[in-house]
Amino acid sequence: MGGNVREGDETDFESLSNQLLSRRYFAGGGLAFGASAFVVGTLAPVSISAAGRFGFQPVKASTLDTITLPKGFRWSVVASWGDSLWSDGAQFDHQTRGTGASQERAIGDNNDGMAMFREGDRNILAVNNEYVNLKVFYGNRASRKPETADDLRKAKAAHGVSVFEIAQEGGTWSIVNDSPFNRRITADTPIEINGPARGHPLLRTTADPGGTNTKGTWNNCGNGRTPWGTYLACEENFNVYFASSDEAYPIPSALKRYGIKSKDKYGYGWAIGDERFDVSKHPNEPNRAGYVVEIDPLRPTSTPKKRTALGRFKHENAEVVIADSGRIVVYMGDDERGEFLYKFVSEERYVEGDDNSDLLDKGNLYVAKFADTLRGEWLALTPATTGMNSHAEICIHTRQAASAVGATTMDRPEWVAANPKKTEIYCALTNNRDRGKKPNKGGDATPVGGPNPRAENKFGQIVRWTPDGADHESTGFSWNLFVMAGNPTVHSDARAGSDNIDADNMFNSPDGITFGTNGLLWIRTDGNYRNRGDYAGMGNNQMLVGNPETGQIRRFMVGPKECEITGIAWSTDHKTLFVGIQHPGEKGGTSHFPDGGDSTPRSSIIAITRDDGGTIG
Ligand code: FEO
Ligand code: CA
Ligand code: CA
Ligand code: CA
Repeated sequence: MGGNVREGDETDFESLSNQLLSRRYFAGGGLAFGASAFVVGTLAPVSISAAGRFGFQPVKASTLDTITLPKGFRWSVVASWGDSLWSDGAQFDHQTRGTGASQERAIGDNNDGMAMFREGDRNILAVNNEYVNLKVFYGNRASRKPETADDLRKAKAAHGVSVFEIAQEGGTWSIVNDSPFNRRITADTPIEINGPARGHPLLRTTADPGGTNTKGTWNNCGNGRTPWGTYLACEENFNVYFASSDEAYPIPSALKRYGIKSKDKYGYGWAIGDERFDVSKHPNEPNRAGYVVEIDPLRPTSTPKKRTALGRFKHENAEVVIADSGRIVVYMGDDERGEFLYKFVSEERYVEGDDNSDLLDKGNLYVAKFADTLRGEWLALTPATTGMNSHAEICIHTRQAASAVGATTMDRPEWVAANPKKTEIYCALTNNRDRGKKPNKGGDATPVGGPNPRAENKFGQIVRWTPDGADHESTGFSWNLFVMAGNPTVHSDARAGSDNIDADNMFNSPDGITFGTNGLLWIRTDGNYRNRGDYAGMGNNQMLVGNPETGQIRRFMVGPKECEITGIAWSTDHKTLFVGIQHPGEKGGTSHFPDGGDSTPRSSIIAITRDDGGTIG
């Protein structure tokens, strides 16, 4: 690793060493690692009494095909892929794994980000259905790929967003069949294009010559929730559904930056079954995906809107805060190796009770630049700073705009979370095997340093920052690392992780992060679950809780085999914590979560409660 490390950079060791506590770096890896690693550590001395804030005893790592929770907590399944939302729908069939028709009436696959909404005393959950695992989804087909037109219809219906009412009876939460709020949004649902890019020539297609109305949303990963009660679904790896029937078709460089290829890499087959996914025939179609989609979950007939002002990239989540001025600030990561961290600042101000429905249509985009001095700045993306022709173009070619201003290439920014107790924001940087080795897709270098301090980063880290003057609109900020994940039982250099990582709480690849109202950070992992080598002793993917004040991290939950832990949400009384269990048994065959026996593994949402009926987080 040493060969990739920058030495003798501009960071002043004297001033930084006071702020830092990571003995590992002073003792070992720090020598090889350079000054940037000194930012790791906790801000305050750890006090034993602070551990009481967690309210649970940590659980050990596990490789079991079930949910592991601390003593005093229990779980049950609320909803799984293929569960019908209407009484006229079919029950999930473990042999066929459903049809196009049954899937259109049922919860989609691979639940990810989610949020809870209330109407009177009714509870409405909005949940992203990110993608499908072909091996599981088409487990009834010898090829493990779509083989018929109905197979394609089924996949498009398993993507998008599921909105449904749930209710608690006898202590157990379940779906309210036929609720007027139940709704499926799929890869074929009509969606409006709003904001600066609406109608732009790059968004015009044969089917939509005005560039204002598109069809469907897919690969929705993390989410957001607005103060006015709407849901934000964030389009991430939208590119893999496109392919070209003409193999010789030269993919334009602007599409290459977003990973569009002529080959159907995973075998989704959408470009065969639905011509709009064929880029040689409809080269502007990919420009209509990669946005944040706003959905009103309490108005089931409302048309979802793509908010192009929030930029086009592989959106992870959208963390919405209200600045002191009343303007809306949305923090967003672009999850790809060496891509960027963004914020949007609305032009208009939020006024409670007023019509705020189009606040996300007008405003400015900024991208983060981090210095090794623990300072950073938000660089405005404007025609003047980027050399682009218009604001609309910046909203479509956002990655290229960020490259033009020299933003910091990051270790795959996943979720962003704002601390409810102070003006401080966190972002999970999940891992980056290319760090210090390969440029990003735009050719920008990915030097080791700043918040990305490890070459060929296998474990990931969480960066946090405080805007100057505790104002989300400030362009300056101070940053440090809350944690560097690692394995201290295998490594003694920087790969051991920061000081707040030990044999009992180690993990890799932080992904979803969300604050509870009590100011603790819930960290979910999407990492390597081989439990060998670098990852020995980490077990299955898991959820941990971090204390921002002390830096302590404690493992709360372990998921079943080959899963990822995704979105979380709370009941209004905070007595139930809902957690997303995505793609158990994703490699096919090893998991039967949650139904057991020989069943098909199904992505699910679980409800966690305390035996004593108390609140959680
Ligand atoms: Fe869908 Fe970046 O995770
Ligand atoms: Ca994720
Ligand atoms: Ca991830
Ligand atoms: Ca995933």
